[in-house]
Amino acid sequence: MAPTFLLVDPTHYDVSYAINPWMQPDAWARDPDGFADRARRSFNDLKAALERAGARIIVEDGAPGLPDMVFPANGGIVFDGKAVPPHFRFPQRQGETERFRTIFRRLVKDGVLRNVAELPDHVLQEGAGDCLWDQTRGCAWGGFGQRSDEASIEAVSRLFSIRVEPLRLHTERFYHLDTCFHVLPRGEILYYPPAFDDATQARIAAIVPESMRIVATDEDAARFCVNAVAFDDQVIMAEPAASLRARLEARGYTVHGVELTPFMMSGGGAYCMTLRLDRTTR
Ligand code: ARG
Repeated sequence: MAPTFLLVDPTHYDVSYAINPWMQPDAWARDPDGFADRARRSFNDLKAALERAGARIIVEDGAPGLPDMVFPANGGIVFDGKAVPPHFRFPQRQGETERFRTIFRRLVKDGVLRNVAELPDHVLQEGAGDCLWDQTRGCAWGGFGQRSDEASIEAVSRLFSIRVEPLRLHTERFYHLDTCFHVLPRGEILYYPPAFDDATQARIAAIVPESMRIVATDEDAARFCVNAVAFDDQVIMAEPAASLRARLEARGYTVHGVELTPFMMSGGGAYCMTLRLDRTTR
């Protein structure tokens, strides 16, 4: 079956506040219409690249005043048809939770999802951006320390009855796990070690053998290429440097680069702009 992804239409997208160091509200404000046009084009290109790679895409509407809804990776965690809406750290994004809950409930009615479950009240967790499924190892990797709480690891583990490997994020630049850590379909990990403290880097190295670790360069990370979408032998990411493309192609992947600058101005790349709806854990 084709992998299914939720995307959110970019009509209400802009960069009007800064809750991570990549966000450039002043640059955006100099040419809002121009950037909005470019964002629409980038969105269409990403959707086309995903479809070309074989994905099925469901596009939902965003909402006025919630520009970051265009990053549905933070709209929830979905495994085995169960969707769990997020609890956001910053007030600017908190209104998204109810929107995504409503979307999930409708997708349950439509038969795309099975049910909606809830995080414990006071646990912050920002969706699939901080929870990446690893098919090869049969576990999720959970990011915490910037947006999501450490307590989210246990909460997610219980909600889905899965093992969650905790990874502490220790820089503001790499505030969601998906900005610095990606699991490729054959089990390789593409990651940016400086986003993690020494103990966390050691944990990753203990779990993932060296031959399966692909270390992103400063440039790869700054271009949001770790923030990739992958399934089968297809990898979709913000336009990569030639060297990263070559490294992935050498491992048998087909790389689709997409120009995503308007979304990188908010600190997001390809993975952030998607939410996989058909992941199974067993
Ligand atoms: N401006 C958004 C924020 O700071 C970007 C979110 C990108 N999403 C992600 N999964 N990394 O929350």
